[in-house]
Amino acid sequence: GRLIEVLRRATSGRRGKVVVLTGAGVSAGSGVPTFRDALTGLWAKYDPMALATPGAFAKDPALVSEWYDMRRMMVLGCEPNEGHRALVRLEDLMKKKGGAFCLLTQNVDRLHQRAGSETVVELHGSLLVWRDELTGEEVLCDGKENLPSYPWIREDEEKGHESNRGSKGGSRGGMGMMRPGVVWFGEMLPEEAVRAADEAVGSLEEGDVFLSVGTSGVVYPAAGYMDEAKRRGAVTVEVNLERTALSDGVDWCLLGRSEEVLGALVEEVMG
Ligand code: APR
Repeated sequence: GRLIEVLRRATSGRRGKVVVLTGAGVSAGSGVPTFRDALTGLWAKYDPMALATPGAFAKDPALVSEWYDMRRMMVLGCEPNEGHRALVRLEDLMKKKGGAFCLLTQNVDRLHQRAGSETVVELHGSLLVWRDELTGEEVLCDGKENLPSYPWIREDEEKGHESNRGSKGGSRGGMGMMRPGVVWFGEMLPEEAVRAADEAVGSLEEGDVFLSVGTSGVVYPAAGYMDEAKRRGAVTVEVNLERTALSDGVDWCLLGRSEEVLGALVEEVMG
């Protein structure tokens, strides 16, 4: 009813702007585990402090690399779901009408891009990118084949260094360890991602829409964008299986599976 009216207005004219923030819940329908769901969440099975921090990687790079490569292989075997595709349709609608659209994601599975989303800001990096911790050189590892030892531990043939698989810590002779291209706890988010997100949220005005999908809203700075959107007078909408830390502050809280709700919502908006 009223929400659809608001969404239609926000997606109708040249000045319309929609910013979407997604979390693990939007990929749950694709079989990608979330982090904090009680039984199935990754952090219910694994200790984030032992796997998702720079210290953990320094202590045992092979263990951390193997765990992230296991997650990389897993997401490569998953397919985008109806929720991802609904966001592609919403983006297409906005662009066709000359409005503006930006998708901020905390997810590292690249399912938004595989579904066809174009304006995606990866706030927490990606499982499919590995980076030399010294040179910053990035390697795209989006093949299903097993990663050779290279992407996380580089054989330094020229200098005859042995592969330091399983060795403790550190980089050698100007060559860094290859590490997962994701943001670990305690690390800064990529500068260009923060800049893009600040710009998108910072340009929201009265009547624009900020839509939060499938995030528990407990990790900052991502969780802070909702407050900023409200400060700028945007209409705030949340889609989640259950109420979250953000729910009390939003204009509309739609409870349900994003792979079902988003499709219905965009269907209504497109009328
Ligand atoms: N549809 C909609 N929401 C869902 C669905 C679904 N099918 N399944 C789960 N959810 C909701 C859960 O209710 C929860 O609120 O998705 C949210 C997932 O929350 P988290 O597991 O905390 O994931 P996220 O919010 O993305 O975590 C943020 O924390 O560990 C870090 O870097 C990691 O990017 C991650 C960040």
